[in-house]
Amino acid sequence: MRRKLVVGNWKMHGDLKANKALLDALVAGLRSYRNADYAVCVPAPYLFQAQAILQGTGIAWGAQNMNQFEAGAFTGSIAPHMLMDFGCSYVIIGHSERREFCHESDHVVAAKFHTAIKVGMKPILCLGETREASEAGQAEEVVARQLDAVLSRFGAQELRRGVLAYEPIWAIGTGRGAAPERAQAMHEFIRKRVARLDETVAEELLILHGGSVRVTNAAQLLSMPDVDGALVGHSSLVAREFLAICQAAN
Ligand code: PGA
Repeated sequence: MRRKLVVGNWKMHGDLKANKALLDALVAGLRSYRNADYAVCVPAPYLFQAQAILQGTGIAWGAQNMNQFEAGAFTGSIAPHMLMDFGCSYVIIGHSERREFCHESDHVVAAKFHTAIKVGMKPILCLGETREASEAGQAEEVVARQLDAVLSRFGAQELRRGVLAYEPIWAIGTGRGAAPERAQAMHEFIRKRVARLDETVAEELLILHGGSVRVTNAAQLLSMPDVDGALVGHSSLVAREFLAICQAAN
């Protein structure tokens, strides 16, 4: 039985005051939800704050990106071990916004996945096709290419140490999430592709769903057999909404 995981992706939102109110509300609200796992991925400057508030609560925290190298002359970059210094369990890797705005290639994303595991974090590897690719009937092709960049380079045994998140780009931030059956079909496609290499890993692997997961569609999405949790952007910034999604997972 795979245990569900709900991860908040705050993106570039928050400040010390608002974060404290949100994190305090999550700590209080999630106390009684013990049947799933929960995490928040906060902007890097607030990792210290997240650590201070969440330590010992059962809610995990993580970052939204990191450099693929362990150290070096990379002005403005954050090394994996720095995230470890602030207790990060997770790091989002290859989010579509980074692939698009920061031109992160499949190759770079795979390297980051590998480095995250090496230092002891769980990378959340994001996969997802654009609207154009979807309309051209190329969704599976794109997702397979993104997955294979990690799978064929590092193998199923390494993939098992991370988490996958399928986030169709056409659903992100639009308020119009994928229909549950449509989400399920792609999650199943991903799991079967991993199963071609290793059935046990495929069976255990968590595949989260992202892209306008809201209070209104969370329960339906989470009831799909291959949807193992959610990566939540917009609705992770409002305690009441995030808690309702967590409750659906619980
Ligand atoms: P959204 O973002 O929930 O606001 O669509 C999800 C994500 O980009 O991870």
